[in-house]
Amino acid sequence: MSQPMADRMNRLPKQFFASLSRKVDERIRSGHDVINLGQGNPDLPTPPGIVEALREAALDPSTHRYSAFRGLPELKQAAADFYRREYGVHLDAETEIAILFGGKTGLVEISEIYLNPGDIALVPDPGYPDYFSGVALAGGRMAKMPLLEQNGFLPDFDAVPSDVKKAAKLMFLNYPNNPTGAAADRQFFETAAEFGLRNDVIVVHDFAYAAIGFDGVQPASFLSVPGAKEAGIEIYTLSKTFNMAGWRVAFAAGNREVIAALNLLQDHYYVSLFPAIQKAAAAALTGPRESIEQLVQVYENRRNAFIGELQSHEFICTPPRGSFFAWLPVPAGFTSVQFSDYLLEEADIAVAPGVGFGECGEGFVRIGLLTGQDRLREAAARMAQATAALHR
Ligand SMILES: Cc1ncc(COP(=O)(O)O)c(C=O)c1O
Repeated sequence: MSQPMADRMNRLPKQFFASLSRKVDERIRSGHDVINLGQGNPDLPTPPGIVEALREAALDPSTHRYSAFRGLPELKQAAADFYRREYGVHLDAETEIAILFGGKTGLVEISEIYLNPGDIALVPDPGYPDYFSGVALAGGRMAKMPLLEQNGFLPDFDAVPSDVKKAAKLMFLNYPNNPTGAAADRQFFETAAEFGLRNDVIVVHDFAYAAIGFDGVQPASFLSVPGAKEAGIEIYTLSKTFNMAGWRVAFAAGNREVIAALNLLQDHYYVSLFPAIQKAAAAALTGPRESIEQLVQVYENRRNAFIGELQSHEFICTPPRGSFFAWLPVPAGFTSVQFSDYLLEEADIAVAPGVGFGECGEGFVRIGLLTGQDRLREAAARMAQATAALHR
């Protein structure tokens, strides 16, 4: 075969974490007890009521056919009801909600829809790599918004140069934040909506960790602030809230024109999701809230166990306010990749180097709180000891 791939394929960013995964696998194969905190895959099962809803729906032959093109009305209505219950936000199920094959797909599609080659998207740095992939596929350019510790890992909109503000078409935001664990309040989203409206930039708020806010604070929805529906959309995935990462179901909500554009593109890619999954997703969204409360408690206990253990060894770090990640500073003299290698070799702990999420992630490593409390305590103790050994 001598056919090269189209140029857009060559623009895709390199898979930064692939070589790390290989190193971790090799170490496990050679018999080491590695605690892998480098990934972001939820470790808990989907609540049984949702699995049961899937079983029942899968037994119903009417679900074996193609779905309605843009998804089942009952799922869109369930999403609208969920937003009213959780955030007091009113959405029209047919025109303000689009069903997605997981948040990842929507995040890539949005750049395909709005960016011509050379167009600018504002992206957070550090940020979730799929924003970068979508922009690259579309041939767009990224203007990075640094997320700095001194700003609570929120972007400083005033620091965006005025020519970039004018030219940008999209802006990606994500709170609770992957990778920093930072949270945003309604005031921040009010500023983001104003920024979007003033500069004619579509705001895309990736609400992947919507359910996971700590210390009794429910994360704010972008759509709950004035002007948000004019300014953009929010992408809500069921992956984390209901431990349904493998099910691939999410939805976009908000601005009608953006929702119509997503539906239009998807008319050409899909005939929506397997109807039984849609029915189970509707059951998840309309079901009891207890499973969400339990989930938050599990992650908060894990955070407290991990951070508490680190602090008991005088390892200074800020506890995350949401998401299931902790963002730890790297000791002086190390890059984030060097520190990750050091932790793997000296403590059998796998973490994600911050630079893999963007240049401004340098100086940090990301820890996934995706194993039980005992294992997390052990990981923290091993990490703290390996780090203390550097100062001896
Ligand atoms: C910030 C962020 N956005 C989006 C996603 C994608 O979620 P999904 O495609 O499972 O809906 C993830 C998954 O890890 C994430 O961390």
